Amino acid sequence: MKYKISPSNAGEVVSVRGSVIDIRFDGHLPPIYSLLYAKEGEIAIEVLAQLDAHRVRGIALTPTQGLSRGMAVEDTGGPLKAPVGKGILSRMFDVFGNTIDRQAAPTDVQWRSVHRDPPALARRSTKSEIFETGIKVIDVLVPLERGGKAGLFGGAGVGKTVLLTEMIHNMIGHQKGVSIFCGIGERCREGEELYRDMKAAGVLPNMVMVFGQMNEPPGSRFRVGHAALTMAEYFRDDEHRDVLLLIDNIFRFLQAGMEVSGLMGQMPSRLGYQPTMGTELSALEERIANTDTGAITSIQAVYVPADDFTDPAAVHTFSHLSASIVLSRKRAGEGLYPAIDPLQSSSKMATPGIVGERHYAVAQEIRRTLAQYGELKDIIAMLGLEQLSPEDRNVVARARRLERFLTQPFFTTEQFTGLTGKLVSLKDALDGCERILRDEFKDYPESALYMIGAIDEAKGKAKPGQASTSAEPTSTSEAKADQKLAEGATATPEPHPKPKTTPKAETEHAISRHES
Ligand SMILES: Nc1ncnc2c1ncn2[C@@H]1O[C@H](COP(=O)(O)OP(=O)(O)O)[C@@H](O)[C@H]1O
Ligand SMILES: [Mg+2]
Repeated sequence: MKYKISPSNAGEVVSVRGSVIDIRFDGHLPPIYSLLYAKEGEIAIEVLAQLDAHRVRGIALTPTQGLSRGMAVEDTGGPLKAPVGKGILSRMFDVFGNTIDRQAAPTDVQWRSVHRDPPALARRSTKSEIFETGIKVIDVLVPLERGGKAGLFGGAGVGKTVLLTEMIHNMIGHQKGVSIFCGIGERCREGEELYRDMKAAGVLPNMVMVFGQMNEPPGSRFRVGHAALTMAEYFRDDEHRDVLLLIDNIFRFLQAGMEVSGLMGQMPSRLGYQPTMGTELSALEERIANTDTGAITSIQAVYVPADDFTDPAAVHTFSHLSASIVLSRKRAGEGLYPAIDPLQSSSKMATPGIVGERHYAVAQEIRRTLAQYGELKDIIAMLGLEQLSPEDRNVVARARRLERFLTQPFFTTEQFTGLTGKLVSLKDALDGCERILRDEFKDYPESALYMIGAIDEAKGKAKPGQASTSAEPTSTSEAKADQKLAEGATATPEPHPKPKTTPKAETEHAISRHES
């Protein structure tokens, strides 16, 4: 740790309440955001308020165990700083810039304040370029913007971290720039796992990781995002490189702000959130910007408390993003991973001017088909599939095949799904969707399209069933397989359906049982 004090300015602890500490200075009163140290640098405190002519109130960035009234406090004469420079690549840091990967501290680094202003309007630049992820459902329906901000919204355990890790995995290979991973308030072991994975994948040399996980005090979780951004800004402004900034999880930043605010004695606002939530979030989000020297593309996981998307934290975050990817528990429950709900997710890149006419038309057709299927679900539940008109039945068949095709096996989940990961180009993904919409696969069992990469794999997986007119399902193992699929028992690879199936009957059987 950089423990370097200008000895002139010393104070004394007057009160300690959890993480909130009041300090008296008889001489010069340290300005807001000054970093103070107590107990020989063991306890770090950031000044957040000046109470009167002699007292400041600060929040501890470290545990305050052992701190007591009357103890000496030293003013560092500056704010919290983060290390920047080439030396930070392939390293892992905490909020203070200490390395936490059990190796020697980097030497050729500069230290910069973590509190910086967003770039001025005149320096900002925008270009509308697509950022391909290799994940079908994202590239086709919610294309990401290079230099944009994308949010992965979802409750606990719907796959945000898995999706984020998969994106790192897919993009880091062909991404020329630097990646910075910032872990805020999530499990410590996730950080450790990620570090090992990245090391094994050989992508560490172009990556920096910064962690302030859930075991750390709120002050530290509140500032770790700023530290990560300071590093990102260095690569953008000084080295003119593109930066991919991944944050898991931005909600924890807001939550830490709420804790800090409560500890500081501020009146809470709606649902207990801090009244300053909007300001705090924009101060951080607005620094994620593109300038003439480089772009910061950011992907942020956003935990949605109790799956309630009207939660103020989720609503505030929505407003900063250029793409919102919404993960649904229902889909996760059905085993349709990645559990992205296409009808709730959106991207401002999905316009014909940017993605092109064909891509736009295919995406619209998919959305329409899925929306129609959504509306028909109630009727199917009440009256059964038999009551639908032949056109509607076709819509259902197409929608279910699209839903299956938009699932994808991930590299990062290979160990527990037993399926090899697939990276699919936008061209293949679009082709597949288009061919399903043209009913080319209507005679294939749905399961042939589940967890595949490009569409041609379906042909290897199953044969088209013989066009049968019989609508009476005989209780076949295929029907069970499809039903199993629909219910999400997907840990094992799909049993290969035998030829000579009656796909239509089988689908209907599965639907009517599943939906009712
Ligand atoms: N793409 C996927 N394929 C298979 N299983 C998944 C996938 N995404 C998530 N899961 C399952 O969901 C669990 C929780 O995912 P995780 O990303 O940790 O959730 P979150 O970060 O949203 O809390 C994983 O451990 C895994 O079992
Ligand atoms: Mg997670």
